Amino acid sequence: MTAEYKVHGNVAVITMTNPPVNGLGLSTRQGIVDGLGKANADAAVQSIVITGAGAAFSGGADIKEFGTDRAMQEPNLNSVILAIENSPKPVVAALHSVAMGGGLELALGCHYRVAAPGCSIALPEVKLGILPGAGGTQRLPRVIGVEPALNMIVSGEAIKSEMLGMLPGQKLFDKLVASPETLAAEALAFAQSVAGVRPLPLVRNLPCKHPEGDAYFQFARNMVKGMSKNFPAPAKCVDAVEAATKKKFADGMAVEREIFINLMWTAESRSLRHLFLAERAASKIPDVPSDTPKRDIQAVAVIGAGTMGGGIAMNFLNAGIPVKMLEMKQEALDRGIATIRKNYEAQVKKGKLKQDKYEQRMALLSTTLDYADLKDADLVIEAVFEELGVKEAVFKQLDAVMKPGAILASNTSTLDVNKIANFTQRPQDVVGLHFFSPANVMKLLEVVRGEATAKDVMATVMAVAKKIKKVAVVSGVCDGFIGNRMIEQYGRQGGFLLDEGCTPAQVDKAMEKFGMAMGPFRMGDLAGNDIGWAIRKRRYQEKPDMKYSKTADLLCEKGRFGQKTGAGWYDYVPGKRDAIPNAEVEQMIADHRAALGITPRKISDEEIVQRLVFSLVNEAAHILEEGIANKASDIDIVYIYGYGFPVHRGGPLNYADEVGLFNVVQAMNRFAQNPLDDAAFWKPAPLLARLAAEGKTFN
Ligand code: 3HC
Ligand code: NAI
Repeated sequence: MTAEYKVHGNVAVITMTNPPVNGLGLSTRQGIVDGLGKANADAAVQSIVITGAGAAFSGGADIKEFGTDRAMQEPNLNSVILAIENSPKPVVAALHSVAMGGGLELALGCHYRVAAPGCSIALPEVKLGILPGAGGTQRLPRVIGVEPALNMIVSGEAIKSEMLGMLPGQKLFDKLVASPETLAAEALAFAQSVAGVRPLPLVRNLPCKHPEGDAYFQFARNMVKGMSKNFPAPAKCVDAVEAATKKKFADGMAVEREIFINLMWTAESRSLRHLFLAERAASKIPDVPSDTPKRDIQAVAVIGAGTMGGGIAMNFLNAGIPVKMLEMKQEALDRGIATIRKNYEAQVKKGKLKQDKYEQRMALLSTTLDYADLKDADLVIEAVFEELGVKEAVFKQLDAVMKPGAILASNTSTLDVNKIANFTQRPQDVVGLHFFSPANVMKLLEVVRGEATAKDVMATVMAVAKKIKKVAVVSGVCDGFIGNRMIEQYGRQGGFLLDEGCTPAQVDKAMEKFGMAMGPFRMGDLAGNDIGWAIRKRRYQEKPDMKYSKTADLLCEKGRFGQKTGAGWYDYVPGKRDAIPNAEVEQMIADHRAALGITPRKISDEEIVQRLVFSLVNEAAHILEEGIANKASDIDIVYIYGYGFPVHRGGPLNYADEVGLFNVVQAMNRFAQNPLDDAAFWKPAPLLARLAAEGKTFN
């Protein structure tokens, strides 16, 4: 059982021992109930303390257990809390580090709560698409007031114990102890001090009212409208807390329970739970154990102070790591530094960054024109022009000067990392670090593992990614890595849709309604249509049989590269990002269609979404099968954090799982019948075909 029972004098201490965060899985729940039973049966015990070992009191219900029988198996969390409330001897929760979700609910069921400072207190269930399901919506308002409780429940955000302890009239904590180190002793002393109290206080017996009643809850419903667009949970949190103020405790609990169970079965909640686990799983590499020794990264160098180099440098400066930037000419360095300054100054202006922090960060930045000055860096990231010859020159110079053991990384987006590694005598130290633009903002980092990349290099860069607050996903070497290889197929489908009868705005609108941050044509305009053009020109040589729509080439021939030229698929007004449809572009598409002898047809939003999303899915299945991605959930993370895929859909593969792979394959077979599409592409990848036939899912 993952809970320990010990008696200290006349106090029994039940300690949850379920690392990493004492999730309230079945064996921990059993352990608590078991401990309560022993304590109440032992005449020498007068009071009971519940606490958590290690880095948390408790992070709440065990998310890994959700959707399994174990989650509901008795004693379920509500039964554990009931057992605590019914204990004839006082039960004191001793909170430290983290008390979240079911962990906080457990504490609210105890007769008393003592807390250490610095403890993160939250009901974060809304972030998993659910609401607190073990009385949190009914008990928290009773101890900190309706408004603060609803704010916490709807936002899911954590508040430090010392802040909550300052709320006037709060009954959440009976005592805030001096420090985490004194918690154990102070909790024991507190438990002894309440040993004789009867009747024992219960949160459920406290009153719960809001003076403005209906008016307040109407206001609250309006407030959550924005955040509820794609998620049902926030509005349901309001309903549950309202029930706490208007119904008897037991009836309020029944309302909470019903909503909890309904939300648990929504696709939105499944997606959010999938992403929670997927994000954490992404940092794990099957053949690189978590105890692999890591290299020490104290100083970083960046080659190239252009669009990417500047953003990459900012990530390290933000994390307090010194950066030296190298360029070929002083003017390029000056330009790069000026851009970094401009970015920081904009943050200072908006009040997002304090002036002194800005200065501290800039003080960590230095520049050079001489490779010899980089020799002491532990990690160097190259972000120069995307030409193999230029990369070769850079990596040869790095090889000559960098100290042994330094990690040499390339931010290349299309070139072969193995070739780059072989420009050096130390291919084991070379890795791809593919940042996304703007590199100081986008959370995704594709870590490209070369054939020779050493395991400790992989372990180190994954840890560095976490330090600079990126979500890192490992990709093998292939053209476009995970994300861009998939987007190429998506772009190709976009082109066919135009040829068959859509306008760019129609396609974008359908995809944005589906939830994409941007439709494919607005995205092209943002990234620069010339990038795709260059790739296609290469493809026309490499794969002359591959079918492409020529519309995007016609657009580029007009110099309409997108926002940077003020015109792309849409028009743009300087200083604004609004995409304004352009009649000439639409005429260009219509003329091209006519030249091909195609009679335009009306294409439904559903077909647009399916063709674009399933094109990602089919390519992803090839990527998985080839071992370019380690697991399906990694691909979902790439699309959520790098390409604006809707969070409530959980990533393209989670979405395909939700639709059902059998249905996905059926749709692909239908698309293959369309003579204007690419039948060869729509042949389901073998992995997809197999999973669909076996009734399985990707995740
Ligand atoms: N259940 C199971 N595992 C959990 C967990 C939970 N509730 N919370 C965190 N973990 C695991 C993570 O999966 C990760 O595992 P790994 O090491 O195998 O990858 C490990 O704990 C560490 O997590 P983080 O990487 O997130 O570590 P941090 O230190 O950055 O954060 C945390 C710790 C603040 C606890 C954060 O993990 C968190 O916010 N967890 C989610 C808490 C939550 O949502 N609780 C509510 C659960 S639902 C519930 O309680 C329902 C109830 O109302 C009935
Ligand atoms: P950029 O043109 O903005 O910047 C490149 C910089 O490198 C320039 O300042 C140039 O002076 C400098 N440079 C060129 N050769 C050099 C050399 N031999 N030594 C030192 N400095 C040199 O290019 P950008 O967009 O920053 O791209 C850089 C790399 O990042 C490329 O490999 C690109 O494929 C990759 N990338 C670009 C993304 C983007 O959206 N722009 C996204 C992800 C990766």
